[in-house]
Amino acid sequence: MEWTKEMRYRRLEEIDINEMEELKKKVNNSEWRQNFHIQPETGLLNDPNGFCFFNGEYHLFYQWFPLGPVHGLKYWYHTKSQDLVTWENVGVGIKPNHDYDSHGAYSGSAIEHNDTLYLMYTGNTRDENWERHPYQVVATMNNQGRMTKPQQANITEVPSGYTDHFRDPKVWKSGDLFYAIIGAQRENLTGCAVLYKSDNLLDWTFLGEMKTQLNEFGYMWECPDYFEDNDHGIFIFSPQGIEKSGDEFQNIYQSGYLVGQKLDLEMKEFAHGRFYELDRGFDFYAPQTTLAQDGRRILVGWMGLPEIDYPTDQDGWAHCLTLPRELTIKEGKLIQKPIEELKKLRKTKQVIEATISNETINVFKGVSFELICELIEIDSNQFGIEIRASDDEYTSIMFDSIEKEIIVDRSKSGQPVAKEYGEQRKCLITNGQIKFHLFVDVSSVEVFINDGEEVFTSRIFPRKESDEIRFFSNGGSTTFYAEKWDI
Ligand code: FRU
Repeated sequence: MEWTKEMRYRRLEEIDINEMEELKKKVNNSEWRQNFHIQPETGLLNDPNGFCFFNGEYHLFYQWFPLGPVHGLKYWYHTKSQDLVTWENVGVGIKPNHDYDSHGAYSGSAIEHNDTLYLMYTGNTRDENWERHPYQVVATMNNQGRMTKPQQANITEVPSGYTDHFRDPKVWKSGDLFYAIIGAQRENLTGCAVLYKSDNLLDWTFLGEMKTQLNEFGYMWECPDYFEDNDHGIFIFSPQGIEKSGDEFQNIYQSGYLVGQKLDLEMKEFAHGRFYELDRGFDFYAPQTTLAQDGRRILVGWMGLPEIDYPTDQDGWAHCLTLPRELTIKEGKLIQKPIEELKKLRKTKQVIEATISNETINVFKGVSFELICELIEIDSNQFGIEIRASDDEYTSIMFDSIEKEIIVDRSKSGQPVAKEYGEQRKCLITNGQIKFHLFVDVSSVEVFINDGEEVFTSRIFPRKESDEIRFFSNGGSTTFYAEKWDI
């Protein structure tokens, strides 16, 4: 189906109930609907937005185009949770219904102040020549969940020196002041992030650009996020236009981070180490973090990428969010662990301990499960796990002990996705110990290596009959222990 501009900018409010019911039916018949991930009821989901703990609950919004699997008029869809595991669909959070957000309520963040939730986002507009004019807008939500949008946008101009690619404010508090970091493009078409400050969250003063050592690093930085952990400052962003390099930066766009000293807000200087990719899998973008009630830093990402077709498009929906991960810092890198609360999802448990040698063994079954596999003695060239497997389909996750690499291969996973960006993702693991921790849902896999040292997040689109879980060892033997829970 060809999605014209008119179709992309149709409003949810204009759709009659029958049309919506038809679309829902189509989506519900999709064989790839997820079981325990946040996914849209219809249409397209992208970035997580406004992730926060407010008024006794977690709130997590996402970018939403309700009417089909394309990037059209974006709403904020609202979900909430007591435990970060089970999410309730609340409904539309922010409607793009003002002049300042006529072409989409784009990404942004949330912060609590005086018992009110402040949601700062980008109002996307297009003029008659289809030129963009971004506004930064602060909506508020009271503790009854009632959303109020301002009469006027809170930041109405792009400061000089930057193009109209200027969006995705992330707000935090330091001392008595609030700061916002916004993703931007300089007039010379390089990406960067800029800073604003405010004492009331409504009136903002432009401070200037955040100075980093990455002066020419892609053409646009989307979805910036800044937070501090003890003596460190951590800057997460999604740069576009980074070239592939070895095993890194294989996807169309990247998401990664810089760990440094605390951002010097006076000088706007951020002294930092190298750029690391957050996730080494095929489908991950535009993550956002928040602080949990107990002080943990939690990250959620979009399990998808812009400008890529997905097999669910034909079913009228696209994408989901990742599971929440807890972030900590170790030796200048972020460690990302699946949050403890996810244990609540565990149902029936099965275990195996075995030594296998030049063979593949078929052990468990499942399409929605958690699996932990620890290698006890590695004496083979390759050891791996095949999930969602049948005669002709499987997704392979293996450790190659010669190359010292983890390799995730989706060339046999089922319906192909973005083949032109390659069908394997790899990364080096040098410390000798290998532990795989997998969360497999109907159409995705999240692989945590060595308790969060690396993560591979990927959509996969196998047939539902492909439900075997196998272990293999090539070129020698390996002893392993595995436990699996149905979800
Ligand atoms: C990132 C992004 C943001 C923008 C939003 C629009 O995926 O392009 O920069 O605010 O999506 O949906």
